[in-house]
Amino acid sequence: MSPSPNKYPVPLAEDHPLHDLIWRQNALPMTALAQEVGLFERLQDQPATIEAVAAMLDVAPRAAEIMVAVVAALGFLEALSDGRFGLTAVGRTYLLPSSPFAYGPFLSADHPTLDKLRRAFLAGEPSQPLAVNMETLSIERVRKFITQMHATTFAAASGLAGQDSLARVQKLLDVGGGSGSLSLAIAAHYPQIQCTIMDLEPVCVIAREYVAKYGFEDRVGAAAVDMFQEPWPAGYDGVLFGNIFHDWDVDTCHFLAQRAFEILEPGGTILLHEMPLNDTKDGPLTVACFSISMLLHEKGKQYTSHEFKAMLTHAGFTDFRSVPTFGYYHLVSAIKP
Ligand SMILES: C[S@@+](CC[C@H](N)C(=O)[O-])C[C@H]1O[C@@H](n2cnc3c(N)ncnc32)[C@H](O)[C@@H]1O
Repeated sequence: MSPSPNKYPVPLAEDHPLHDLIWRQNALPMTALAQEVGLFERLQDQPATIEAVAAMLDVAPRAAEIMVAVVAALGFLEALSDGRFGLTAVGRTYLLPSSPFAYGPFLSADHPTLDKLRRAFLAGEPSQPLAVNMETLSIERVRKFITQMHATTFAAASGLAGQDSLARVQKLLDVGGGSGSLSLAIAAHYPQIQCTIMDLEPVCVIAREYVAKYGFEDRVGAAAVDMFQEPWPAGYDGVLFGNIFHDWDVDTCHFLAQRAFEILEPGGTILLHEMPLNDTKDGPLTVACFSISMLLHEKGKQYTSHEFKAMLTHAGFTDFRSVPTFGYYHLVSAIKP
């Protein structure tokens, strides 16, 4: 069956306000936690790097970075050109307990997420693991998670699909493809492309339902492969990771980039669909707050384009590009020489 243009939807507008609404919810408990662990007082006399903040608070650098990025994006800290973060006038005036204008009592108010966030922050491990622990989730929880992921990526997929770095791809492997939200949009845009959603079996079952719903069974398939335990299928000239690197630590991202490099043909393209943090790690606020969900549920964070470049270069890729696509999303791409 060929794709029906009538069946395949196109969003009328970008979705920043929805991402703002969903991810910024955790800005308040993160600021309360920053106050609780004394972040603002520790930066009172002199600015510090994220590594120094991690050492001062005795937490993992990932946890320190996520906290610092959120409160910097809120305007309480400023990123200096040497990589250190210092208090802004707003932070100094309203967040130091010694200030007559301190908002402290307001911020220490109970928040339903604060306890989970505190545990994840101090342990450096997710307090409620999701994508990094899919094998252990109930079928109902898997379906809920994949349905939520679909809701937050299906519109953005339309902006990804139009990118010219996909124009030359004939066979695309969509690693951890979830519902197939990205593959479906790409298949709708490029009639030449064949896509394989690679995911765990319970997720493939859900993906096949979405593929059937939009009538792409002839060009979008689903392959049950554990990306860490099993060999990856070969013969692809494009490997896509949508919101996958942000789930994992840098070493695991290196592993994933390396596997993509191995199976790609020369001239093939690696593609990352992600919402990157600014290279200065002080915004955008919604992206910094999206990282709080990574702290609560996953092992990664929102990486910067500079960090993606380092990971892909480490695996041997060249011709790195990071292009804004839709909402807060970018398409990060590089070529296997
Ligand atoms: C954050 S979701 C991303 C889904 C989709 N790519 C998107 O952009 O919406 C992470 C995906 O990684 C998949 N995943 C987690 N562990 C996996 C594994 N060991 N092998 C294959 N896929 C895995 C999950 O099932 C999930 O679909």
